[in-house]
Amino acid sequence: MSNALQVEGLKKRFGTKEVLKGVSFSVPENSVFGFIGQNGAGKTTTMKTILGLLQQDEGVITVFGEKVTYGNTKTNRMVGYLPDVPEFYDYMTTREYLRLCAEIAGVPAGERKERIEEMLKMVGLADEKHRIKGFSRGMKQRLGIAQALLHKPKLLICDEPTSALDPTGRKEILDALQAAKVQTTVLFSTHILSDVERICDRAAILHNGEIVLTGTMEELHARKNGNDFLVSASGRGEMEALQAHFPKFEEAEIVGQENVLRWRKGSREDFRQVLSYIADRDIAIRGAEWAEATLEDLFLSVTKETPSGTETEVSGV
Ligand SMILES: Nc1ncnc2c1ncn2[C@@H]1O[C@H](COP(=O)(O)OP(=O)(O)OP(=O)(O)O)[C@@H](O)[C@H]1O
Ligand SMILES: [Mg+2]
Repeated sequence: MSNALQVEGLKKRFGTKEVLKGVSFSVPENSVFGFIGQNGAGKTTTMKTILGLLQQDEGVITVFGEKVTYGNTKTNRMVGYLPDVPEFYDYMTTREYLRLCAEIAGVPAGERKERIEEMLKMVGLADEKHRIKGFSRGMKQRLGIAQALLHKPKLLICDEPTSALDPTGRKEILDALQAAKVQTTVLFSTHILSDVERICDRAAILHNGEIVLTGTMEELHARKNGNDFLVSASGRGEMEALQAHFPKFEEAEIVGQENVLRWRKGSREDFRQVLSYIADRDIAIRGAEWAEATLEDLFLSVTKETPSGTETEVSGV
């Protein structure tokens, strides 16, 4: 499998602020790749550099083996882009707008109509006759995806396409991106980890200007060493007794009527010991359970364990 995108040693500073400190990752052809990072992590900066809109200080980017250059990079003929805040002509209908975009993108005149209908169908806007002005955010994002795919790019880059959306809107976008995978490779940025879990084949976590973790979803999940386990009780006394004996339990959270103790990344043996302690002393608990570790937990542990500017054991999967 060849790479649709390869980013190697990308560095970028704004003034004295080093935003990207040697970012490397690659996106295999026909995959959906999640580019994860908190606000200000450098996602947009990375994407704009891939599009030749920003000039890196160091590093090499290739799109299908062809080097990206700053300015009007030729590689953009292979790339579709949905920016983080897309702008539309509100007074137009979807078809008017896409006709304009198709013209600008150089879609041959004879192919435009068919391509536009195909894209509108794919993003679920084929029956929409109204002007863009009345569109919800989700509808605008879907139109943005249709626009980005008009010229049949081999790589689709979407900057936080789901961030401003409610769960229904997010699902529609994720469905559209997944549908797009049949014809293109998708790179999208997000801080919503459940979106990544839902549709991505691979992902990378950008933190403090570095990729702290990247790999297939299976590889990322395999990084979770141990699950959390939770013990709940209605009284505080039970919780305090347990915590005193097992300091690995975190401060009790109150969830509804219950006090819940959490032990992060416990082993089966840890859990067994807790249960036998509870049984031996007849401590009144309401429940004890494993909490399946999510990408969210992994993200938190990776970003917590990464003091600024240092390598971590988890980098370079
Ligand atoms: N043109 C610029 N001039 C100066 N600083 C900039 C510029 N563009 C971005 N930055 C800074 O670079 C850092 C990364 O910004 P970037 O927009 O790439 O982050 P992001 O991951 O896309 O964040 P968000 O989730 O908020 O969109 C931020 O600290 C930002 O303030
Ligand atoms: Mg951004």
